[in-house]
Amino acid sequence: MDKPKVVLGVSGGIAAYKACELLRRLTESGHEVRVVPTDSALHFVGAATWSALSGNPVTTEVWDSVHEVPHVRIGQSADLVVVAPATADLLAKAAHGLADDLLTNTLLTARCPVVFAPAMHTEMWEHPATQENVATLRRRGAVVIEPAVGRLTGVDTGKGRLPEPGEIFEVCRRVLARGIEERPLDLAGRHVVVSAGGTREPLDPVRFLGNRSTGKQGYALARAAVARGARVTLVSANSELPDPAGADVVRVGTAVQLREAVVKAAADADAVVMAAAVADFRPATYAEGKIKKRDGHEPDPIVLVRNPDVLAEISADRARPGQVIVGFAAETDDVLANGRAKLARKGCDLLVVNEVGEHKTFGSEANEAVVLAADGTETPVPYGPKEALADTVWDLVADRLG
Ligand code: CTP
Repeated sequence: MDKPKVVLGVSGGIAAYKACELLRRLTESGHEVRVVPTDSALHFVGAATWSALSGNPVTTEVWDSVHEVPHVRIGQSADLVVVAPATADLLAKAAHGLADDLLTNTLLTARCPVVFAPAMHTEMWEHPATQENVATLRRRGAVVIEPAVGRLTGVDTGKGRLPEPGEIFEVCRRVLARGIEERPLDLAGRHVVVSAGGTREPLDPVRFLGNRSTGKQGYALARAAVARGARVTLVSANSELPDPAGADVVRVGTAVQLREAVVKAAADADAVVMAAAVADFRPATYAEGKIKKRDGHEPDPIVLVRNPDVLAEISADRARPGQVIVGFAAETDDVLANGRAKLARKGCDLLVVNEVGEHKTFGSEANEAVVLAADGTETPVPYGPKEALADTVWDLVADRLG
């Protein structure tokens, strides 16, 4: 089989050096990559680097090798175009269909999925001109990855950082895989909220009641939604996984904090997926100082109180009509019967039921589940990567969003 053909567009920002790592990952995973930089990009990383790493010629202009009609052929034959970093100027040109160099010509002739990974200063990103250009590109079906928050050029920090190359690669891999699907960007224009990880309920400054959730399933859901074009808010409870490119990550610790973050993000969301393992109980009191053992004394019992049930609350009190709400149920016995009862009790639209045990689900790369729907249907998901389960969940959500 031919290698998938990827065009890596690079525009002129300091983050261009990070695109070298993206290029490496693409070539090492079996993609044929043609790098198309802009003239400004070559101020940051030279043509020799792009050419050596990609194994292909590099030019910024339409006037080289004219007999091969590169300004048309490169875009036409691509399976994916990814522009990383995409500057404000490049986004503006793409949104308005300007074509004054090889990259902008390529963007006009490409009929494959296109991913933009913007990187710029916060002011430029937030400017209405840029925001309107991004909205235009998204409306036309491009995936525009939200920039990350962090250190920018110089002393500034804020939103506008290029996400880590490994995470941009993950978006590319998923978009490419879905490129052959009928509706590759079926969540474009949608805002989805995913909760992930496990809450921790503190007893004292050093101890907590927690659970074994790592966040892998929730992070897989967030990544899959980005690749399907959604704006994603990831409410992450105590996960150590790297931020998925393009997701707005809100970090929380306890169930109460998670509730607040989910309710806030759900206000304008089309769908909410509660993949987090939320503690049902928390210690009734929090000791300001570390609880000490005392000679001759038995330890005090830990008194627990109920935490809010976030899934039941947002299902009963939908922030928007038509909002789709998905819960997860981790069960050890009577998996399906318990799942059905839970679906009814929680009032959500879909419930992903999986069996847990010491060596099942928590922390593993794979999952097996049945998705129960409020309309009575059941979708079995065979044992496989969490990414596949994530896509099945979004398929069912997209069907319900219409
Ligand atoms: N959940 C929630 N708030 C809680 C507890 C759970 O929103 N306080 C959500 C989880 O994110 C998950 C679903 O509810 O999507 C199922 O959680 P689970 O703990 O399995 O269900 P419980 O209601 O705790 O039922 P049981 O105690 O019978 O297992």
